[in-house]
Amino acid sequence: MIIHSTTFIKSAVKPDAFPAATLAEVAFCGRSNVGKSSLINILVNRKSLVRTSSTPGRTQLINFFLVNDTLSLVDLPGFGYAEVPLAVKKAWGPMMRTYFEERQSLCAIILLFDIRRTPREEELMLIDWARQYDIPLIPVVTKADKVTKGQRAKHVKEISAASGIDSDEFVLFSTISREGSDVIWARIEAAIEGFAVEQVAE
Ligand code: GTP
Ligand code: MG
Repeated sequence: MIIHSTTFIKSAVKPDAFPAATLAEVAFCGRSNVGKSSLINILVNRKSLVRTSSTPGRTQLINFFLVNDTLSLVDLPGFGYAEVPLAVKKAWGPMMRTYFEERQSLCAIILLFDIRRTPREEELMLIDWARQYDIPLIPVVTKADKVTKGQRAKHVKEISAASGIDSDEFVLFSTISREGSDVIWARIEAAIEGFAVEQVAE
């Protein structure tokens, strides 16, 4: 995808505050600090469109970005950070589920996995909801630079076993090498392809 423009639209928590669901949308989710915001910045070729942080758990809102006036990218709040207040932790699940369930324009979920970590309950919940609401899932294993090339397959295999997602489905990504971004764009483009056509048909 050739990026002509990217702009921040708004942050919201509840569906009534979301932007109108008129454009194809792709959302990024995963554990706090896994690299969601960093991946979006690389995909749109901007150093800091989305704020990244060394303090995990900072993004607790659903952030909407507009690409080329035609595609909506969404940075979803992370989970699993111990120091987030309990009330915020409790709100996370229902907020995610509502977004998955009600967002009519959602064409794909990009779920990020840290190459060094075994997926846990929250990742499994997100995978379940994506299946339940029939939203295509694009699984990305990120921070690939953190392990040696020889160790990669072993880590992907562990993530595959714990998540139930086939090893071949994962895209390996790293902000350092930038590998994987073309494949992720290709999968995004494939996922959004039918959206405009469906809209016209309705
Ligand atoms: P929250 O918004 O807190 O949920 O985190 P996030 O998932 O948006 O993570 P973010 O993009 O802020 O990245 C967290 C930290 O990981 C930052 O210090 C990034 O620079 C670093 N990081 C992200 N991706 C990579 C990667 O592929 N390789 C390496 N080495 N570091 C990365
Ligand atoms: Mg973030």
